[in-house]
Amino acid sequence: MPQRLVIGNWKLHLTAPEAVALADGLAKGLGTLDWDPARVGVGVAPSFPLLVPVAQALGGEDARIDLVAQACHPEHGGAFTGAVSVEQLASVGVRRVIVGHSERRRIFGVDDPQVTRAVHRVLDAGLSAVACVGETLAERNADRARDVVLSQLDAVLQGVKGSAIERLIVAYEPVWAIGTGQVATPEQAGEVHGWIHERLASFHPSGSQVPVLYGGSVKPGNIAELATTPGIDGALVGGASLDTDSFLKIVQGVIHAS
Ligand code: PGA
Repeated sequence: MPQRLVIGNWKLHLTAPEAVALADGLAKGLGTLDWDPARVGVGVAPSFPLLVPVAQALGGEDARIDLVAQACHPEHGGAFTGAVSVEQLASVGVRRVIVGHSERRRIFGVDDPQVTRAVHRVLDAGLSAVACVGETLAERNADRARDVVLSQLDAVLQGVKGSAIERLIVAYEPVWAIGTGQVATPEQAGEVHGWIHERLASFHPSGSQVPVLYGGSVKPGNIAELATTPGIDGALVGGASLDTDSFLKIVQGVIHAS
């Protein structure tokens, strides 16, 4: 069984004091739950300038909640104004990096070759990559969801060398479900998760252990159904991760399903 995970993607939200208050509330709230991070990993992904204060609020080196970055640049360093490297992220305690989120692809022009390089860089640095794949509504309606998702996944896998796959996480996020309130049905999500798991298993003997998260309008009210769907190993949560109670309820939903 792959590990179960819930990751909150805070996107471009929160000031430093707000982020610290949220991180503090989550650390305290999770402390009251019967929660084993080895069974259900929990992470939060604040914007770059908030990583250090959030790391401190989560408990520094003793934190049980993982610090996650929303993106990285695939270069080690150099003349890349505005970019942030994997080494810089690792140096402030980041453990996982989201790669190829659909907003990065659509708004910032990140393409599959860049995803390949970023995945490679993240895994090579010993961090874990949360690689996002997902089709648009037009692609789904044109019956192209499978092709699109698997070709994005192939670009991800090109960046994975051998046993580094043990640090890979895949997130299936149908673009039409992100921030829209329109969640994929368990049948729709389960079908795509099945394709992804199949491809991962044929890619490498450890591929069957790669967690595949669902993302797109995950809420406390739909997590139970999603988390009990075969092939869904957890959630990448946007909007609902900005509220302590709703994020804790989603974590609880995944704990109960595991
Ligand atoms: P959402 O975002 O939960 O607000 O739909 C999910 C994501 O973009 O990761």
